[in-house]
Amino acid sequence: MNNSENTTTEAKASGVKEHHGFASKLGFVLAAAGSAVGLGNIWRFPYLAAKYGGGIFVLVYIILAVTFGFALMVTEISIGRKTGKSVIGAYTDMNKKFTALGYVAAAVPVIIFPYYCVIGGWVLKYLTVFTIGGGHDAAQNPDYFNNFIGGNIEPLIFLIIFIGITAAIVLMGVQKGIEKISKIMMPILIVMTIAVAIYSCILPGAVEGIKFYLVPDFSNFSINTIIAAMGQLFYSMSLAMGIMVTYGSYMKKDISIEKSTRQIEIFDTGIALLAGFMVIPAVVAFSGGDPTAINQGPGLMFVTIPKVFDVMPGGQITGIVFFLLVALAALTSSISLMETIVSIVAEKFKIGRKTVCFIVLGFSLVLGCLSVFGYGMWADFTIMGKQLLDFFDFFSNSILMPLVALFTCILVGYVVKTKYVEDEIMLNSEFKAKHLYRVMVKFVAPVFLLLIFIWSVFMPAL
Ligand code: PHE
Repeated sequence: MNNSENTTTEAKASGVKEHHGFASKLGFVLAAAGSAVGLGNIWRFPYLAAKYGGGIFVLVYIILAVTFGFALMVTEISIGRKTGKSVIGAYTDMNKKFTALGYVAAAVPVIIFPYYCVIGGWVLKYLTVFTIGGGHDAAQNPDYFNNFIGGNIEPLIFLIIFIGITAAIVLMGVQKGIEKISKIMMPILIVMTIAVAIYSCILPGAVEGIKFYLVPDFSNFSINTIIAAMGQLFYSMSLAMGIMVTYGSYMKKDISIEKSTRQIEIFDTGIALLAGFMVIPAVVAFSGGDPTAINQGPGLMFVTIPKVFDVMPGGQITGIVFFLLVALAALTSSISLMETIVSIVAEKFKIGRKTVCFIVLGFSLVLGCLSVFGYGMWADFTIMGKQLLDFFDFFSNSILMPLVALFTCILVGYVVKTKYVEDEIMLNSEFKAKHLYRVMVKFVAPVFLLLIFIWSVFMPAL
């Protein structure tokens, strides 16, 4: 019997969905890490860390990741594996009254996926630019990035390419698509990130940046630091949107949920921290500590990294490899986003996967256009003071995700009780962090999430 037949048989026996089981333990961790590690780590984390106070943001993020992020990820994977369903079915199985929560969770990837692909397209643009030798221009021309995103047609073309590649891989199916790509690219990405980070840190003037990034300055702390760190945590670890539920439903019963979660968490946070070392010291080095340079927002990586490559020996080749790897990391994440949407729609409406893929593709392209043009010809149109892409990002990360996480905690902590999750975890190992888990899910997380939600809705000054 070959490997994949084996998986299918075992999957059937354990009640996990057919066709989709991961072939190996490493396969699961890598695929889940592949979903988690993406633009969130490399593009979003550094710009948020820069914007929300440097070291203090990093500290808050790490504390949240090992407590909160851990508890939520364990919960979602367990729910998925226990029910064998993706998010709507899973929440309904747990308690009929929580079906709506499943729908809200399912809506999150629908909002994120299109704009995620827009940024994936930006990465492809920079990959192309470096390949054809335009890296120097991208580094030296201060308006390069803004001219590009303001250009309507070009970002649209790159969006179409990125979303097209994602859709093609999802059409091929989970096993072949995700597992193979993750296994090859993850280790290379880590080595590459370390190399660029080291180079960035030895640039003249980078020391100030390293200090800013590592030493927490409590005067930079505000409630916004926590909100931004929390939203980033959800985003980066692919939480509060049903993704880990879907992945859990593909996971075999003999894999330790606790250990896998720790591994994914370390992996994900490690790469984010490294990406910060890559971007932040370099921004400070090149701008002489100018705060407006640090505060650039979404463009930070695209503006700064080409400058590093411009002064680096062998910068063009490094640039090509770097953007290629970032594109791949983005791709494994966008695949997981699309896969989640497709599996939910296919399960709910009993339509074939292929048809669903095309429907999701079309719909996402339309939404993606909104984000593209929101930086281009509709740049004057804002919602709550935000351009469209930023609004989608804010709405999903700071409003919907805390809401989903809050009700998931209520469901697990008070309705089905934490034993529901604990039993699933203890099927094959002890649950070392059980007490921490209970306290997090029942008390700390709900209170905290409620506060965050209220703050985000009423004081959306982020
Ligand atoms: N976690 C991914 C990242 O860090 C993004 C993502 C968000 C992927 C939501 C899937 C779902 O880039």
